[in-house]
Amino acid sequence: MADKATLTLGGKTIELPLIVGTEGEVGIDISKLRAETGAITFDPGYGNTGSCASAITFIDGEKGILRYRGIPIEQFVNHPDFIEVAMLIINGELPKRADRERFRDKLADNAHLHEGMKHHFDGFPSGAPPMAILSAMINALFCYDQNFSDPESDESFEDSAARLMSKVRTIAAYSYRSSKGLPYNYPDPKLLYCGNFLHMMFSMPHRPYEVDPDIEDALNLVLILHADHEQNCSTSTVRMVGSAQANLYASVAAGVCALWGPLHGGANVAVIEMLESIRKGGLKPEECIKLAKQKDSGFRLMGFGHRVYKNFDPRSRILKNACDKVLGKLGVKDPLLDIARKLEELALNDPYFVDRKLYPNVDFYSGIILRALGIPLDMFTVMFAIGRMPGWIGQWKEQHDTPGGRIYRPRQIYTGPTIRDYVPMDKR
Ligand code: SDX
Repeated sequence: MADKATLTLGGKTIELPLIVGTEGEVGIDISKLRAETGAITFDPGYGNTGSCASAITFIDGEKGILRYRGIPIEQFVNHPDFIEVAMLIINGELPKRADRERFRDKLADNAHLHEGMKHHFDGFPSGAPPMAILSAMINALFCYDQNFSDPESDESFEDSAARLMSKVRTIAAYSYRSSKGLPYNYPDPKLLYCGNFLHMMFSMPHRPYEVDPDIEDALNLVLILHADHEQNCSTSTVRMVGSAQANLYASVAAGVCALWGPLHGGANVAVIEMLESIRKGGLKPEECIKLAKQKDSGFRLMGFGHRVYKNFDPRSRILKNACDKVLGKLGVKDPLLDIARKLEELALNDPYFVDRKLYPNVDFYSGIILRALGIPLDMFTVMFAIGRMPGWIGQWKEQHDTPGGRIYRPRQIYTGPTIRDYVPMDKR
C-alpha cells in the first residue's frame, strides 16, 4: 500500500500521510486538511474517525478479537485476577510479584472513605440513581484528594490509581448500603479486591459475609471483561475532559455519566428489564424480535449490536459460558438465561440481524451473572464502571503522557441562518 492518500478537491490535489498501526490498521492523517483545502471531514458518531493512537487495547471487530496490551482476553479466564489485569492495562506489562503486592497494599490502605464523605450519602433522596451518586461522589472524592489528582510521577500516579480503584468500590457499596438504610461495613484489609467489595456490600452486624471463592472468581472475571475497550463513548469522554487538562477524578466522573446511557453501559440494566418483561408474560421472544425490527417501534434488542464488533463480541461468548458455570456452582436456576438464549437463537437466525451483523454484546449476558452474585439491578452499570475504571485511568494517563497533546475540539458544518439583523420587539 502507498504511504500516502491522495485527495482532489476543488481542482486541487493534495497528499495526506498515512498512519499504520501495529496490527496493520490504516489511518489517513488529516491534521493539515483544513489548512490545505479549507474543508473538514464529516463523520457523525465518529464511526470512521480515529481520535488518537493508543497502545492499550486492540479490537478486531470483524474477527471478534479483544486484547489488552496484546494479551487475548480468553487467556485471563482460567485465573481471573482483576487487579493484575488493571495493572497490565495501566502500566503496559503484567506486574511482577513485588509490584502486585505493593499495589495490593495500596488498595488495602486506601479502601476507606474520609468519614466526612459518609454524610454526602445522607443528602441523596431515596431512589437516587446509583450512577448519579457514583459520579457525584468521585468529584466529592477529589475535594479530599486534591494532592492526588494531577499526578506527575509514576509513583504518584500509582497512588492516584490505587485510591480511585479502591474507593470507587467503597463508594458503590456505601451507596447501596445507604439506599437500604443499612450500616456501612468498613473494608477488611484481609480480603482481596472483589471479596472486600462483596463484604462491604453484604456483611451484616450479626452475620459477616462469607466470601465464596467461586463467586470471587466470577466477579473478577466480570470486571476483567469490562476493564477497557479502546475508544468507546465513556473512554472518549474521559479523554475529552482530560484533554482540557482537567484532573483524573473529574475526567472519570464524566466517563461515569457517559457510561450511564442505555446505549452504552446502561444496556446491562435494560437487557434484564427486557428479559423480565418477557418472563412476566408482557412480551414473547418472537414479539421482541419483531418489535426490534420495526424502526418506528422505538424498541431495540438491548444487549445486541455494536459499533465495532461485526462478529461475536468475545466478551459475550465468555460471559455466556460463565453463566452456566457460575449458576451451576451456586445452584441457581435463572429463567432469564433460557429466555436470553432463545432471543439469541431467534436473532441469529433472522436476516434483519444477520444482514446488519448484530450479535450479542458484553451486556447481553453480564446481567445474568451479576444477578446470580446477588448484585441488585440498579447497581449493574455501577459494576460496569468499577470494571472500566482501570481502562479510564490507563487511557487518561496515555493521553496525559502524549507529548504535544492538544485539547479535543472538533469542528462542525454550520446549517443555521445566514447573516441577518436584530429585529426590535415591536417589529417582530
Ligand atoms: C457497550 O463502543 C464500545 O466499545 C461500547 C462497549 C464497551 O465495552 O465500552 O462495548 C459497551 O456500550 C455495548 C453496547 C451496549 N448497547 C446496547 O446493547 C444497546 C442496543 N444496541 C444498539 O443501540 C446499537 O447496536 C449500538 C448503540 C450498540 C451501536 O449503535 P450504532 O453503531 O450507531 O449502530 P446503528 O444504530 O447505526 O445500527 C445500525 C443498524 C440500524 O438499522 P438500519 O438503520 O441500518 O436499518 O442496526 C440496527 C439499527 O436500527 N440496530 C438494531 C440494534 N442495534 C443496531 N436494531 C435492533 N436492535 C438493536 N440492538
